[in-house]
This record gives sequence, structure tokens and C-alpha cells, in this order.
Amino acid sequence: MRDRAPSEICILVVDDLPENIQVVKALLEPHGYDIRTAQNGIEALEFVALTPPDLILLDLVMPGMDGFEVCRRLKQDPETWHIPVVIITGLTDREANVRAVEAGADDFLIKPFDRVLLRARIATSLKTKMLQDAVFAYQQELEDRVRERTRQLEVTQQVTVFGLSKLAESRDNETGDHIDRMRSYAYEIAQHLRVQPDFQADIDGAFVRQMYQACPLHDIGKVGIPDRILLKPAKLTPLEFDIMKTHATIGGDTLRAAEQAGGSVSFLAMGRDVAYYHHEKWDGSGYPFGLSGEDIPLAARIVALADVYDALTSARPYKKPFDHETSRGIILEGSGSHFDPRIVEAFLVCEERFKEIRKEFKDSGRLSPTQELISQLEAVEEPLL
Ligand SMILES: [Fe+2]
Repeated sequence: MRDRAPSEICILVVDDLPENIQVVKALLEPHGYDIRTAQNGIEALEFVALTPPDLILLDLVMPGMDGFEVCRRLKQDPETWHIPVVIITGLTDREANVRAVEAGADDFLIKPFDRVLLRARIATSLKTKMLQDAVFAYQQELEDRVRERTRQLEVTQQVTVFGLSKLAESRDNETGDHIDRMRSYAYEIAQHLRVQPDFQADIDGAFVRQMYQACPLHDIGKVGIPDRILLKPAKLTPLEFDIMKTHATIGGDTLRAAEQAGGSVSFLAMGRDVAYYHHEKWDGSGYPFGLSGEDIPLAARIVALADVYDALTSARPYKKPFDHETSRGIILEGSGSHFDPRIVEAFLVCEERFKEIRKEFKDSGRLSPTQELISQLEAVEEPLL
């Protein structure tokens, strides 16, 4: 903590009598303090609001707003409560002292005061104030550091998710727009459910944010599926489909291992749930575990609908995209069997937004690196594959 020069220390003297102000000024100015003055309570509060001083010497008896009220207001205001207030008064009765203490005064000097005592009290109050300021500054610095670390952590999380999902995407048949659309669909549903009585206890702002972040991890396990199956431009055989299904456990296991290595990180836990369970069905006929109803984690139930809607409305090597109405019909048919009926209801409420998202992230034709390579090779007359 640096000692400040007296000229850097501002003292506000508040007294309705100019001669009293002059006495205090005459005592303190020779020591180099920056002395400011106010002749009534309102003027004093206005000065403090604009230029918070380091110390206030306050008279109690003044016309209009008296010193008790000025002191009380200063001590109740979170911006000014820390400024030391030393009462300078001619009132010697006990009641006045008690009222001033109740108003929050830090110290007292009874007029006529001893000049040595005045300087000593001022020095003590200023020292306390400077220590307090140093503690506040340190606290502020710590808070800033925590905020910065938290921000860095969030960026790291986002970059990790982005990197992982890009890795999965680079080997997938789907275009990069799939992830953007899917997380937007899931977000819309979660935001709607958040205000429904059934879901208020389970969905808060953090849940929605984490789900948006974790959504791209749903198919991370596809990196473990052989190319001949993952990139097959036709319907899979039953055996190939069984292999394809393992992407859910590969993804879930991977994220669970990451979670165990890094301690419990909420978005990874949600990513794990989404990866494991996004192909489970409400009636228990899904995979990989055949979970049913509310045994399927909520985030995975939401992502399941978002994933299916996007698959239905997107082109695949073996099918053309369905329009919204057809896809809507298929989803409604799956209510209570494939999907949680309450999530289907939410989908119906949000369906206009789904259409907008579909337009917003319309397939740009952007290909994954593997698809790009395949299309280049296919363009060569002599077949290389
Ligand atoms: Fe999947």
C-alpha cells in the first residue's frame, strides 16, 4: 500500500457556519490536505456523489437536513458507507452522541476541540480508510482474476466441444449445418419446457446453456465406426446397422472417461448423457440400453427429437429430404413410442421456429473433409476407390 501525499487526500468539512469552517481549514490546510467545504446537508451529499472524499468532518446541527440524516444516508449507501465520518459538534448531551453513533458516525470531536486531538483523530481515520481501500482493491483484483479464469475456462470448454464435434463431423456423411440446426432445435424446445410446470424443477438457464454446448457431442462416437459403414452411400445391412449403433456407447464411454479424468464437469456429464442415450426411445425400444420413459435423461430425450427432425428434413445418400409437414407427421406418430409426448407437444409449439432455423441454417452444401475427398476422387474418370 503506497502512502499518499497529503495533497492527494481530500477532506470534506460540512458546517453551516462559515467561521467554523474557517477554523478547521486553518488547522488542516497547513498540513497540505485538499480541503473542500459544504454549508448544508444537500450540498454535502451532492459533493460526495460527484467526488467521494477520503474523510468527512460533519457538523450535527444545521438548517434543513441535519448531520444525523447526512450521516445516515452516507452509511446506508453502498457507494459511500466506507467513507469515515467524524462528527464535530457542540452538542455534549448523551442522547445526541447515541443518535450519531446510531446514524453510523465513526468518531466524535466536541467543540471547542483541541487541535492536536483533531489532527490525531483525522490521521487515525485516514489510516483506517486507506487500509480499507487496500482490502477493497485486493478483493476487486481477486474477483477480476476469478472472472478472467472463468472466462478462459468457458472458452476452453467451447473450443474442446467445437474440436471434438468437428472431429466427428469430419468423418460423417452429414454436413456441418446439421450440428448448428440440431442445437438450435434443442435450444428452442428446452426454452419452452423451462417455463412448463412439469419441467421447471429440472430445466434452468444453466441446463439450457449446457445442452446447447453439449448437443454437438451426440454423435462423437462415430469416429469409432469404420468408413465402409459410416460413409456407405446406401441403406445399411442389419449387421452394419448393429455396428453403427455402437457409436452411442463409444461416444458415451469416451465422454465418461474424459469426465472421470477431469473431475465432474457439468457440460461433459450432459454430453455423456446425450451421446449415450440420444437413440433411446420413450417406449424402451431404442438403443443401446433399451431405457424407457423418464429413465432416459431429459437432455437426451430433447436431443433425440431434434436429431430425428433434422434427419427427416435433410437429404441422405439414400433418401430425399422430407418437407416439414411430412416430418411433423412422422414425429407426431412417434409421440409416446419414440418420443416423450411432452417434448412432442413442445415441438408443436415451437414448429414455426423450427422452420425458421431450417431456413437459417439451410444446407450450404458445405462438405466434411472426407466427403470433399470422396467427391474429388469420384470426379476423376478413372475410378480410384
Ligand atoms: Fe447418433
